[in-house]
Amino acid sequence: MSGTRASACAGLCALGMVTAGVAARAVAAPAAAPVEALHANVIPAPASVVARPGSFTLRSGTQIFVAPGQKATRIAAYFAELVRASHGLTLKARQKAGASPGAPGIVFRLDPQAPGTAPESYQLEVSATGVVVSARDQRGLFYGAVTLWQLCSARVSEHGAITLEAMLITDAPRFAWRGLMLDSARHFQSPEFILHYIDWMALHKLNMLGWHLTDDQGWRLEIKKYPRLTAVGAWRVPPGRAAQRDIDPKTSRPRKYGGFYTQEAVRRIVAHAAARNVTIVPEIDLPAHTTAALVAYPALAAEPARLPAAVPSDWGIYTHVCNIDEATFRFIEDVLAEVLALFPGEYIHVGGDEVVTDEWRDSPRVRARMRELNISDVGAVQGYFEQRLGTYLAAHERRLIGWDEIVQAGLGPDATVMSWRGVAGAVSAAHAGHDAVLAPDPVLYLDHRQGTSPEEPPGRGPVESLQDVYAFDPVPAALLADREHLLGVQASLWTEHVRTEERAAYMTWPRAAALAELAWSPPGRIAWDDFLQRLPAEFERYRMLGVSFSEDVFAPPRNLGPFDRHMSQDLRSCSNKLGLNLEDDAPVNGRRAVFLIDIMNPCWILPAADLSQASGLTVAVGQLPFNFQIGKDVESIHLNPAHSAAGELEVRVDQCEGAPLVVLPLASAVDNDAVTVLPAVSLPHLTGTHQLCFKFAQHGIDPMWAIDWVQLSQ
Ligand code: ACM
Repeated sequence: MSGTRASACAGLCALGMVTAGVAARAVAAPAAAPVEALHANVIPAPASVVARPGSFTLRSGTQIFVAPGQKATRIAAYFAELVRASHGLTLKARQKAGASPGAPGIVFRLDPQAPGTAPESYQLEVSATGVVVSARDQRGLFYGAVTLWQLCSARVSEHGAITLEAMLITDAPRFAWRGLMLDSARHFQSPEFILHYIDWMALHKLNMLGWHLTDDQGWRLEIKKYPRLTAVGAWRVPPGRAAQRDIDPKTSRPRKYGGFYTQEAVRRIVAHAAARNVTIVPEIDLPAHTTAALVAYPALAAEPARLPAAVPSDWGIYTHVCNIDEATFRFIEDVLAEVLALFPGEYIHVGGDEVVTDEWRDSPRVRARMRELNISDVGAVQGYFEQRLGTYLAAHERRLIGWDEIVQAGLGPDATVMSWRGVAGAVSAAHAGHDAVLAPDPVLYLDHRQGTSPEEPPGRGPVESLQDVYAFDPVPAALLADREHLLGVQASLWTEHVRTEERAAYMTWPRAAALAELAWSPPGRIAWDDFLQRLPAEFERYRMLGVSFSEDVFAPPRNLGPFDRHMSQDLRSCSNKLGLNLEDDAPVNGRRAVFLIDIMNPCWILPAADLSQASGLTVAVGQLPFNFQIGKDVESIHLNPAHSAAGELEVRVDQCEGAPLVVLPLASAVDNDAVTVLPAVSLPHLTGTHQLCFKFAQHGIDPMWAIDWVQLSQ
């Protein structure tokens, strides 16, 4: 990953800021430019920036004045710590009654008469005598501090003094819900990483963290009453042969992957989030996406006999669902009681997505309970489920939020809808009087690749670039009439293919900065070219913070010559579908190859091979575990029949059917879990430029062969 660094910034202070060593480094100052044109290098762009004459210079020893009182003092300390960590400057905080400091310095003022009346608004005034940040509420003052830090980080002299152009910033958010979602179920991130993620959110004025804590492949939240949820549900054996061969000496069985958040860790995270104005919305995904919980407590399942023996490691949609026994609702309410005790926010996310009703249809126990409840149709079972959860949450003064499938299911009036299947769910929910948040797939799904480079980490194949995110319209025309129900927007980082914390950060930034601007800045401030101008300063801040991020937006185009190595990401897919950018399962420890593959049609095209010049072909191949729950779709995957025990790679010219031009036996690769370079083959002489089509002939679907790279030789 070019231009990134480990997200674990060694020795990060409690603020998630940088080490002293990093702090001492000077930040390249961008060329001086009119304040108005640059929006003062602040992301998200403030609502209004007006240039004033003069400037103020901040250096070690500059005083910060706060009126006596805890809230402003805490925010002043946060700002001082940010500046210390990023620039090594020591600012002196002093409590001082009254509005005017009477000496040059920085004032943080919570003031009921401050100019902005909107919640979270603030005013920041830089003049020759200092800086005054004022707000009516402490959230506004906090964001004023964040803006002031961004102004500082963008303008550092070689002497470590920071000169701020005089200006008046007046700012307030466009939306109350400015969210990111992090999936800690598919892959687990450490509590320390979650703290940093919250810090980075706060520095973008993002304020809602959707925390996806449970799914088929893992239950990550300690529940004291039901310890098997984590003792069993938090651990799985990763897919693939390499993991099967990775034996844990303690058990003499394949090593398990997993982890969970203790309640103590959650309390620390929630308190940290509160101090950063971030509300955590915990998600307990029900009644589907529950396989890990059902394996731990099979009595909750509609069809216990269909459950796997252990927490599974396939991606996709499992058909396992909860039953609707009273005992199951008692269990769920016990779980929710512990969730409510940990998470003080108004909203509790109860999932509701991708519910397959087969098991409800097939289960005699569920059908008997349906008769007792007068539910005539399995299609209405989810509605009953959501009503039970909504009633419980309302009785405890919380609000249910769920994915947009809950719209079909029939909703309590208080329920809020998170629209992921495009924005249609939000449109119908808002029309029916429910609040809604826009979190549409694919544009706000951060597990998509953000560029086409072979260096991009694993994720979904179709690219959702920084510019794609920035171009998303957070108030679609269809929602205009019900605008008052639109709470805001969320970008979601699903982590099926995001195995490491560094990659989780990389997939998030800077796309979440684009989202932050859509969520915070007024529509008149949304301008791609202007955002691009502010990005270098943003990237410099990421470097100071030790945040892994993508610089793909500034990457030059990749120009390959005819005899260069073409990685799978450089090839075309025969189906024109980009599928998935998947990581090899080997080596278990160490760098793994990443293959761009359409698993429904694993077939690659090298579009323009000059065969009059090429006489040889070398191909590197790998194998992927086929760990996808795709139901009957598996029958439509087309594989060519193998002609030998190991199978072959068939290469055709100009089309993907008919007799192969050359065949590369897979015998040398079949027992290698990692990438194998197949013996080179000679190409028959052909004139002109042709398309080469690469397709495997294999006996079964698992493992699935994949191209890593192809290279022609002269
Ligand atoms: C989802 O992507 N299933 C919410």
